[in-house]
Amino acid sequence: MTGWQEIEAAFIKKTHFNRKRQSSFCFVVCVFFIVAAISLVLSGCGQTDGPDTDGKKTDKVQITDEKITVGLSQIGSESDWRMASTASVRSAFSSAAGYDLIFDDAQQKQENQLKAIREFIDQGVDYIILDPIVETGWDSVLSEAKEAGIPVIVYDRRIEVDDDSLYTCWIGSDFKLEGERACVWLQEYLESSGVDRNINIVDMQGTPGASAQIGRTAALEEAVMLNKNWRIIAQDTGDFTTAKGKEVMVDWLTKYGSDINVVYAENDNMAYGAIEAIEARGYKVGLDIDNGEFMVVSFDSSHNGLQLTLNGKIAVNTECNPLYGPRLTEIIQTLESGGSVEKETYIEEEQFSGISYIGTIQVRNHPYTVTHLTENIISDRQY
Ligand code: AHR
Repeated sequence: MTGWQEIEAAFIKKTHFNRKRQSSFCFVVCVFFIVAAISLVLSGCGQTDGPDTDGKKTDKVQITDEKITVGLSQIGSESDWRMASTASVRSAFSSAAGYDLIFDDAQQKQENQLKAIREFIDQGVDYIILDPIVETGWDSVLSEAKEAGIPVIVYDRRIEVDDDSLYTCWIGSDFKLEGERACVWLQEYLESSGVDRNINIVDMQGTPGASAQIGRTAALEEAVMLNKNWRIIAQDTGDFTTAKGKEVMVDWLTKYGSDINVVYAENDNMAYGAIEAIEARGYKVGLDIDNGEFMVVSFDSSHNGLQLTLNGKIAVNTECNPLYGPRLTEIIQTLESGGSVEKETYIEEEQFSGISYIGTIQVRNHPYTVTHLTENIISDRQY
């Protein structure tokens, strides 16, 4: 007797079922299986939802055949920049524009990004879009995407893989150039204002191993080699967040106090944290290094970052543009229509300062404009 026959027999025995009742039992069992099968199919069509063990959340999306399904792995929500980037992709990949977007927030953990990509592969999305938290560690998961025939588009930060056929294309910032522009501006400022002294710099770094950290740190280290009176007296990560930036700055103020001249904050949020910490200790933030002010140099040029730049609390702010939504949909539309896309594309970025007399700087033998900030520029800013 099979398991099911045994259950049926027990059921019949217990309830003294006659033949007619046996057939009702069969009917009940059949209905049970049909309902279970329908529920399984329905749950398979949708995106996995609800918090997983890490508390992260993935959008619940009903995948349809008519739309282009995109699985997007976002790093987290650590900064103003990141929030603006998320808003940009969410609005570009709208249902009205013909997309089913499965958006996954990895909460600043690479393991969550790897998990999300594997889920996208299982769901059979049409495209995978990845903003990678760090550059390394992507070979295996992207080989799986390639095997499944799913094109991968990387944006913002870069990846380092042995085989570059593992991704279709990358679009993002030249983070090293951003750092070079910030350092050349600092050099010009110190020269033009006659500051002739040793300059002690603290480097508040982004997430270790992230392209934005690697490029901006490398630019500063090179500039220090070229400017004999510049010194990096401390380097630590603030993980691109305000809270961690503040914590690191408090620590440096305890160790170095007013010996610090320049805070090279590798993004706006860490600059906010640094400024809060400096002012809380009773020091002044500004451009007058000779009179003991702490000069803050920052990146991103988000709305709040530019306001602090206009107020002179950030000396120079080099843009990192987060508005990737329209750029990514353009890539997908090109691929959908059978066109080819550039393997690598650098986006153009600006630089802002509250002072007007450094209007252009030369970097890599190329002139770059430094925009003199006004309230109008800030109020027109989209992020
Ligand atoms: O990758 C871009 C960087 O990441 C931005 O500078 C920063 O604010 C973000 O968190």
